[in-house]
Amino acid sequence: MARESWASKLGFMLAAMGSAVGLGNIWRFSYVAGENGGGAFLILYLISVLVIGIPLLLVEVSIGRKAQSDVVGSYEKLAPGKPWYLAGFFGIGASLLILGFYSVVAGWSFYYFWNYLNGFFFNEPQEGYGPAFESFTTTLTQPLIWHGLFMVVTILIVLSGVKKGIELANKIFMPLLAILLIILAGFSLSLDGAAEGMRFLFQPDWSVLSDPTVYISALGQAFFSLSLGVGAMMTYGSYLSSSHKLPGATFGIGIMDTLFAIISGVVIFPAVFAFSIEPDSGPVLVFITLPSIFNQMPFGGYVGILFFLSLSLAAISSSVSLLEVPVSYLMRAASWTRRKAAMVSGLIIFILGIGASLGMGVLAGVTPIGENNIMDSMDYIASNIFLPLGGMTMALFVGWHFTKRTALEAADLSGTGLGSVWYGLVRYIAPILIVIIFLQALGLF
Ligand code: TRP
Repeated sequence: MARESWASKLGFMLAAMGSAVGLGNIWRFSYVAGENGGGAFLILYLISVLVIGIPLLLVEVSIGRKAQSDVVGSYEKLAPGKPWYLAGFFGIGASLLILGFYSVVAGWSFYYFWNYLNGFFFNEPQEGYGPAFESFTTTLTQPLIWHGLFMVVTILIVLSGVKKGIELANKIFMPLLAILLIILAGFSLSLDGAAEGMRFLFQPDWSVLSDPTVYISALGQAFFSLSLGVGAMMTYGSYLSSSHKLPGATFGIGIMDTLFAIISGVVIFPAVFAFSIEPDSGPVLVFITLPSIFNQMPFGGYVGILFFLSLSLAAISSSVSLLEVPVSYLMRAASWTRRKAAMVSGLIIFILGIGASLGMGVLAGVTPIGENNIMDSMDYIASNIFLPLGGMTMALFVGWHFTKRTALEAADLSGTGLGSVWYGLVRYIAPILIVIIFLQALGLF
């Protein structure tokens, strides 16, 4: 059977943007920026996106398009008999780990959507949105049911193949999400105390730069948000033919993703300060702050419906790309049907997610890394360690295993001045920066 492919370059762009724009832009960006002091973090994040993220996005997509295979198969095909393919297995592991906790948070988003749809959250629950969130996430089965439901939806979409469903959903809901966020940003800016939030986000407080963890957090956020380092973008690139040019497409995807993150920052931080919520309250920020804003808005309940619907859909289009990594591998390497591959991988992810979910409640005392609960530890290991390592391996592959000529050809940059800049970034600058940031996070630099 012929390998699947996108219907058009636009289809690829939409799917890749759908992969990039997700919970990472709204939920994760806002709490990581909040924990790391705001403005100075934003600048480090933007530098990471421009100097490392976007060049590596082009690296990742071009490897996949050249090899026309999954993350393990691509390395095997382009470097037969060499150990590079091990990085592919590493990517599969990381994608399972990420989707394990991602789908739990996406399940919360489903739950919020449901509660707005029924009008339950139109008015603040008696105990307040914060405690309502707490009591939901700390129960045993409720969050697991929503997590399972989210995985079922993800599996069903992946089951139906590359072309069907994903492209259409992205076409409708990505613009909807953009419009909603802009409306919300306008409202947020009109709140008393908005200026303080804008200062927090845009006025760098350079003193936070003395904290070594800020750098690794900015780098990890850039990788997470751009869906880099596990082979998701490689797999998506493998469904693209060489007649479609990559540099403009990857640059567009990177810029769109960054815009979505900044706009969600403008939605969230003015409101955080207006409602005197601590910006460093962590992963719960979006699920407590936004409902409070909606509660103050005319027709806010309806906005809540649309917002959490859009957030859920943004999460689905991202989770689909994560599930596609093991699925595409199993279909080729184990000759499984798409159906079987999607169901088995989805089940493994569901089980991983149970740990993340229970870590909010009964297992709250389990803190694998520092003070981080299970979910935050999974996120920390995956985003701050696996993703940058995976991305660095791809950079080394294209920068050192390929000849310069092959690298530039694979990326559609032959004979352009930009090509040499990109190649220099990929061969030297990005790997060196990643190593420095790592050593520094370990306190060795
Ligand atoms: N980028 C997505 C987000 O911001 C999440 C995501 C999808 C992802 N695919 C990925 C993260 C691959 C890392 C690797 O929500």
